[in-house]
Amino acid sequence: MAKDIDWGSLGFQYTAADYRVVSKYKDGKWSDLELTTDSTVHISECAGVLQYAQTVFEGLKAYRTADGKIVTFRPDLNAQRLKDSAERLAIPAVPEEMFLEALDMLVKANEEYVPPYGSGATLYVRPYIYGSGPVIGVAPAPEYEFRMICMPVGPYFKGGAKPIVIKVSDYDRAAPHGTGNIKAGLNYAMSLFAGEQAHAEGFSENMYLDAATRTYVEETGGANFLFITKDGKVVTPKSNSILPSITRRSLMIVAKDILGLETEERPVPFEEVPEFAECGLCGTAAVISPVGKINDHGKEICFPSGMEEMGPTIKKLYDTLTGIQMGTVEGPEGWIREIK
Ligand code: PLP
Ligand code: COI
Repeated sequence: MAKDIDWGSLGFQYTAADYRVVSKYKDGKWSDLELTTDSTVHISECAGVLQYAQTVFEGLKAYRTADGKIVTFRPDLNAQRLKDSAERLAIPAVPEEMFLEALDMLVKANEEYVPPYGSGATLYVRPYIYGSGPVIGVAPAPEYEFRMICMPVGPYFKGGAKPIVIKVSDYDRAAPHGTGNIKAGLNYAMSLFAGEQAHAEGFSENMYLDAATRTYVEETGGANFLFITKDGKVVTPKSNSILPSITRRSLMIVAKDILGLETEERPVPFEEVPEFAECGLCGTAAVISPVGKINDHGKEICFPSGMEEMGPTIKKLYDTLTGIQMGTVEGPEGWIREIK
């Protein structure tokens, strides 16, 4: 039985589901995974996460398919990326099998929160690991907690599939040899001020350029870029300081192998942006959100796809990807993992 929730009017926000999964790391090992109804955490006042932002996270979704199953999309890649993120912040990694077991436990326990097929909503899953033990000298925490929570969500950007307007930021998101390629809370903390500024000026998001030269496109605060050339090629920026988006990596495969489009992952000079026919932001939360305009310090770059609807190629990518996730389109082997 699904919960009595108005699925269609959900935004992207936190609500506490009934259960969460927790494991604690102490004396060099993770404890057995446990389901709990307690939505508060109890940690040292000097915890590594509170003092030195020692926390990494993931984001993935569970989908109700057309034939009533509950599935997740390439969660093995989220497990791998959480491991990469953890290692970079000197946090003990959670093994892939443990991550997948926690995911199964969490989604099964909160099955009633998985939105119905066709409702436009999905179950967002947020796994994270943080330093819970005390540190005062700059050092990794002695103890950690791995927690996986979930909540039903609607579109990340208000208006759903309507094109958004973004601005070119004057702030940098990630340094060339910094932490832009992992999912660390600190990357998001330092984007908050720039994000609030963009919102106050009426923009949905920031486009960040490369910190070293400010001449190449990187990504936004929470999604990678996809561009479509006038002759239908799919182009995505290549950079060591952006998050290796699972949605973007999947879409490049969908574009090439399913839709037969030409694809290019390469540095994208900001100067080239006005030449593209379509632009979109892709990520778990964003899915593919079309960008209609980019404001560069008062100068507008308007994509020919306009402000009314997604451009035709982005729409094809969107339909195919969401079709695979919802079970109406056959995806490459191993992409869909059923929760049983
Ligand atoms: N870039 C950033 C900065 C993100 O936070 C996210 C969200 O996870 C993405 C890109 C998209 O990644 P994914 O497609 O794996 O969700
Ligand atoms: C996701 O897409 O899962 C993210 O983590 C992006 C976040 C900014 C909501």
